[in-house]
Amino acid sequence: MDNIIWPNRPVLIVDFGAQYAQLIARRVREAHVYSEIVRPMSAQELMDFNPAAIIFSGGPESVYAANSVDIDTEVYDLGIPILGICYGAQLIARDLNGVVGKTEKGEYGRTEIHLGSSSKLLGSVLEGDNVWMSHRDHIVSMPPDFRTVAQSDHSPVAAFENDQKLLYGVQFHPEVAHTDHGQEIIKSFLFKVAGCSRNWTSTSVIETAIDQVRSQVGEEKVLCALSGGVDSAVAAALVNRAVGSNLTCVFVDTGLMRQGEAEEVEAAFTRDFKTEFIHINAKDRFFSRLKGVRDPEEKRKIIGELFIRIFEEVANEKVDVKYLVQGTLYPDVVESGPGNASVIKSHHNVGGLPDDMNFELVEPLRRLFKDEVRIVGSELGLSDEIVFRQPFPGPGLAVRIVGEVTPERVGIVRAADAIVLDEIRRAGLERELWQAFAVLADVRSVGVMGDERTYAYPIILRAVTSDDAMTADFARLPYDLLEKIASRVISEVDGVNRVAYDITSKPPGTIEWE
Ligand code: XMP
Repeated sequence: MDNIIWPNRPVLIVDFGAQYAQLIARRVREAHVYSEIVRPMSAQELMDFNPAAIIFSGGPESVYAANSVDIDTEVYDLGIPILGICYGAQLIARDLNGVVGKTEKGEYGRTEIHLGSSSKLLGSVLEGDNVWMSHRDHIVSMPPDFRTVAQSDHSPVAAFENDQKLLYGVQFHPEVAHTDHGQEIIKSFLFKVAGCSRNWTSTSVIETAIDQVRSQVGEEKVLCALSGGVDSAVAAALVNRAVGSNLTCVFVDTGLMRQGEAEEVEAAFTRDFKTEFIHINAKDRFFSRLKGVRDPEEKRKIIGELFIRIFEEVANEKVDVKYLVQGTLYPDVVESGPGNASVIKSHHNVGGLPDDMNFELVEPLRRLFKDEVRIVGSELGLSDEIVFRQPFPGPGLAVRIVGEVTPERVGIVRAADAIVLDEIRRAGLERELWQAFAVLADVRSVGVMGDERTYAYPIILRAVTSDDAMTADFARLPYDLLEKIASRVISEVDGVNRVAYDITSKPPGTIEWE
């Protein structure tokens, strides 16, 4: 799946170790231009991609640090438009004989900029706009023939350009939402400077992915394990469009799914898609293996291994199947090393399927970010319930139950979870939160309901905001919403008499409890 010829020339994001490289790539795609993240490489290697433009990302080092990452300076003579951001801008300035200096005080956070001479890049930016700065060094003077087009109090050169050489730089971060008109700056670079065309659309993504799958698998049979999550569902829907009834979907019901999840997936794939759908009810097998197990890692191991065993049982019956669908996404590919997109990371989306299953992988989402996967899923006709479902861990509700996992305790956490999501949806917050769910603790406390003393479990409510799950913050939910959730959970879910709200961020906590 790797030698994809997308319908347009890519914009390359050269990653100098920036936390924002993926964000830059997403912003470019939001402007309907295809982008790829690559490591710093030679000018010739960059040209092998036939790029329409190049963006240098920021980076953590000073351009004068002994271990600073450099770029092949021949890149400046290729005639390809280049935009340097932060470190990337400083690199252009340094390489072409400008001066980058150390400052006593860096610039961090929202900063006002003041415009200089007229600018192709900053055409939509207004005098006094706020931009997002995050740097220590700054550009003191421009290379010869370059113009300074913006300044700030601490950056004598906040933006520069050389229209003849098609080289541009901004000391600030246009990709960050806190920069006023940041996306307009990126668009000016793409369309006014580089003349890119807007042909990265969901239709072109789908058509290209379908062509790729068809040419990879031909008339062969394909197997797909559906997890209930959006990635495997969209991957299956795409492959189904490509190969029709040569696709078989397998859904292993572990008994650890969210409320309505198994039914929704089955309904989608039996009603709207032409595939053989194998639904395996394995609840009893999972519960019997989990009996008496309290250790989180042991739970994960048992669930992962049993899932594989069951999937193998199906796969072994399908002797004529050669291909296995995986919902690997672009961030997984990038994390295996930018520019190493051909290295298949042993990434397991569904229950940790092993590499030795003798299938060739079909990965139709390998070039897509999560938000693009959702757009493609909607366009392919999957329901909002599936497409906009919040992330869910492979081991399911088992890692949201502290202590032993029994059908009764899964019932409690599932019912509470459904109430949490229902109220979050009613409050219009579902898409603002990364995740919101219920956790069942393993302690009991005293309460009073009616005239009766109770001694029951608490539900812990967990709601977080996050961009990528690497870090997360607890969501500042309104008190009246917290109250509504707590009172519904206690009155509607048997066995619960108290609700607590987890206000730990990640780090030091994790999002899940186990
Ligand atoms: P933690 O708890 O590590 O979770 O902060 C980060 C994100 O990953 C999800 N998660 C998993 N996803 N298989 C998955 O596919 C897993 O085993 C797994 N464990 C955690 C979690 O829901 C959160 O979004």
